[in-house]
Amino acid sequence: MRSAEATGLRTHRIGSLSEELVGKRVALAGWVHRCRDLGKLLFVDLRDASGLAQLSFGPDWTPAEALRRARTLGPEYVARVEGLVCERPDANPDLATGGVELRVDEIEVLSVARTPEIPVYRAPEEDPPSEELRLRHRPLDLRRTRAQQVLAMRHDLGLAARNHLDSLGFVEVETPILTKATPEGARDYVVPSRVHPGEFYALPQSPQLYKQILMTAGVDRYFQIARCFRDEDLRADRQPEFTQIDLEAAFAEVDDILRWTEGLASRLAEVAEIEARTPFPRLTWAEAMERYGSDKPDLRNPLVIEDHSTALARSAMGLVRGAIQRGDRARGIVLKGGAKLSRRLIGSLEDEARNTGAPGLLWAKWGEDGGSGPLGKHLVAEEGRAMNLASGDLILVAVGRDSVTSPALAAVRDAAAKVARVPAEREHSWAWVTDFPLFEDKEGRPAPSHHPFVMPHPDDVELVDSDPFGVRGTAYDLVYNGTELGSGSVRVHLPGLQRRILSAIGLSSPEIDERFGFLLHALGSGAPPHAGIALGLDRAVQKFTGSRSLRDVIAFPKTTQARSLFEGAPTPVPPSELETLGIVVASRRA
Ligand code: AMO
Repeated sequence: MRSAEATGLRTHRIGSLSEELVGKRVALAGWVHRCRDLGKLLFVDLRDASGLAQLSFGPDWTPAEALRRARTLGPEYVARVEGLVCERPDANPDLATGGVELRVDEIEVLSVARTPEIPVYRAPEEDPPSEELRLRHRPLDLRRTRAQQVLAMRHDLGLAARNHLDSLGFVEVETPILTKATPEGARDYVVPSRVHPGEFYALPQSPQLYKQILMTAGVDRYFQIARCFRDEDLRADRQPEFTQIDLEAAFAEVDDILRWTEGLASRLAEVAEIEARTPFPRLTWAEAMERYGSDKPDLRNPLVIEDHSTALARSAMGLVRGAIQRGDRARGIVLKGGAKLSRRLIGSLEDEARNTGAPGLLWAKWGEDGGSGPLGKHLVAEEGRAMNLASGDLILVAVGRDSVTSPALAAVRDAAAKVARVPAEREHSWAWVTDFPLFEDKEGRPAPSHHPFVMPHPDDVELVDSDPFGVRGTAYDLVYNGTELGSGSVRVHLPGLQRRILSAIGLSSPEIDERFGFLLHALGSGAPPHAGIALGLDRAVQKFTGSRSLRDVIAFPKTTQARSLFEGAPTPVPPSELETLGIVVASRRA
């Protein structure tokens, strides 16, 4: 419990009631969770943010007027009560305060509540209300103990991050919310300027450029618990408005940031009571893609992808042989003892591969008499041996270009571990993925794989203009249980190199000056080499509390349609206001 200090209306917080207080007179205030009227006796569970306790009302200790008032209570009324803490004859072991009850002799109804649209108290067999209803009636939804615990955990993690970074000499500096576009790969939210009609601020997608400029300004170690805004297609792990623990340090290299971040992550893990053994394993991006097909591998899952192109180079299956001859690869996952999986379950794995855009998934069951299944029936003993197949194994193989087989096998790896109930190797998996390519291929053109401010790998700088796709970057991601928790890099601190990178992604010289002139100007004033990272606070809270979605860990989140259901945003703006802003709305979707 955060604080037990008395306030004007109460002597104790409800969750602090315990056997130690038996015989003491206390005053409590809170919400009526539920009432049970047994005729002579009335029991009320009263709840505040710290917990709930049983109040009991009875003719032997509650004056008639107080008893009458107590009988008017309904769900979510707010009441203040006074009475004696007594040992409870029927102690409730499931409740922290379950050893005691308050025998009430005074009650004041502080607030009457209409019938709640969603129940805060729910009987165990009752289904939770739909998420839409919960978001529409968010204040009621947040009254649940679980929601209060999540908000408290979020606070604790934020506080621990602040204190930890402060102890390392990082200084929190706030950066503007009304700003100029910072590209992080999403669309900007824009805010019209009234003073300059026709001109717009952008809300920051991250404080990336400001933190770099702070480095040029001599701030040695910066951090900020920073709000970021991105107009992108929303998924369970993305919100348009979210929070980063953002940091940057001058004269720092990759190892410094990784070491500091490991310290920070273990401090956060300690607060959340989860394991984080440092140093975290490091994989290069190329290794992660090769073994797990993903740049955010879940290392709890022991399955790995292997290259079977050599074993299958002379396959009797023309499709496989032909593909390998063309230079494609046959990569697969062996499920030890997986031959017992039903056709239906294997079919679900084929679907996983197809859902990523792969044409399909080949598979072979291996037995004493050789193989069966679409690939298995073509396999000879030598191929089985070369792929390390033992009797009872199932192998799942994808054939094609790595860009197709990697995502397919990554999805198959996750799903196969679930359907075959492969035991997890550990409960908490932390890893670094390093050396991402600087650019990814976007319709044949180089696009930044993180953002355009990542320093190329020192050995690859010369390739920026001639072979951009061959350039490794200095970027690293922190991955926890298959989720990207954080991302960072060493930055380009040389204005000339920054210009070359911006030009490699297709920006003309005037465009570079117009959009990033202020950054280049700052870098040209004598910039220290610098590096940094940002961790997603919402994602950390979601993962550490085992919450289903980011919406469960944000007090007032947006739906996947980017709407706030409780307050109702966005909304149209009155025409007069638009006129002041010099804006004409051309079309509105119905
Ligand atoms: P990046 O875009 O990878 O990097 O973001 C860093 C971390 O922020 C979290 N995150 C999100 N969380 C919720 N909703 C979103 N829409 C969302 N987008 C990102 C993730 C992610 O790992 N400026 C760089 C950092 C740097 O280079 O220092 C940046 O913003 O956990």
